[in-house]
Amino acid sequence: MGEEGLAEISTRYLRFADTEARSRSPLYEELARAVAGDRETLGFLSTLPDVKRQPNLLLAVVRHLFGTPTGWTEFRQALLAHPELVRSLMLERSTQTNEPGRCATLLPVLARLPQPLALLEVGTSAGLCLMPDLYSYDYGRTVLRTPVTASEPPVFRCSASETTPLPTAPPHVVWRAGLDLSPIDVSNPSHVAWLETLVWPEQTARLANLRAALMIAATVKPRVVKGDLRGSDLVRLCSEAPKDATLVVFHTAVLDYVSDPAEREAFAEQVMRLSPYWVSNEFPRVFPSIATRAGKSWPPGRFLLSVNGSPVAWTDPHGASLEWIADEA
Ligand SMILES: C[S@@+](CC[C@H](N)C(=O)[O-])C[C@H]1O[C@@H](n2cnc3c(N)ncnc32)[C@H](O)[C@@H]1O
Repeated sequence: MGEEGLAEISTRYLRFADTEARSRSPLYEELARAVAGDRETLGFLSTLPDVKRQPNLLLAVVRHLFGTPTGWTEFRQALLAHPELVRSLMLERSTQTNEPGRCATLLPVLARLPQPLALLEVGTSAGLCLMPDLYSYDYGRTVLRTPVTASEPPVFRCSASETTPLPTAPPHVVWRAGLDLSPIDVSNPSHVAWLETLVWPEQTARLANLRAALMIAATVKPRVVKGDLRGSDLVRLCSEAPKDATLVVFHTAVLDYVSDPAEREAFAEQVMRLSPYWVSNEFPRVFPSIATRAGKSWPPGRFLLSVNGSPVAWTDPHGASLEWIADEA
């Protein structure tokens, strides 16, 4: 790979440091910035397929193999001493971060739809976002507690802008199913260990909430089907939803993995044919035609939440905040 290719990888790591890790993980910000300026590490990344060069994947794999480093020097030493080990785990695994905290940003939308709901999540990972009715939420001015379940539910804190129509009751979910290329099995300790490593180092509250959600999933066992969101797997799963519930097909942090814009558009068209509600929570670049309707400037590092192609809110990628825009957009 030439200079231009290395510069492209470097830019990707700098963007991650600036817009994703900054103020959320000082260690990941430091590491991503250092990778961006280190020729040897960029050279290592250049030997991997493009989809495997993601900052989140490299950082998680090195932590998974060698533990959380104290800083760049330790990280670099571990990586450059064992490049083949790192390479093979990067090729084997993918970033399947399952962040149930994202339910806090989905809830205001889900609670306003005609109840009861049949939830179908594409790119569901372990299915933790399929259980928004089983978690508790603290929006500051409103706290929503779920009925007592076998295990203590996680409490997701989310600061919501004033105009956000905060729910007063959880949605009534009568059916839930997820689709994923590579489902995560919550009863498999090695799958769970990988999910836990995908939580960023300093985010101990996030990790505790993930563990609490995993406990609920171990009991509820949300159904996760192996399949591709592009094509007939989705058609089949939609047809299984009960007809007397409102079908909602949703996804968060998934469509970026479908690199061809035409395939993303085809997916959107298919969902609109299959389901009365399509809820998308993705970086705005994923569906630029929706994002342009949300205004000219896109807040950096935010997901855009939309319903049936209409912008509804800017959201924190891990669910920590929500800025309602539906009434202005
Ligand atoms: C970053 S995870 C997000 C998981 C979950 N939606 C959340 O927000 O916590 C992305 C997931 O999408 C899945 N995925 C990527 N491309 C897919 C496709 N074409 N069809 C189905 N699942 C896909 C991956 O396997 C992964 O589990």
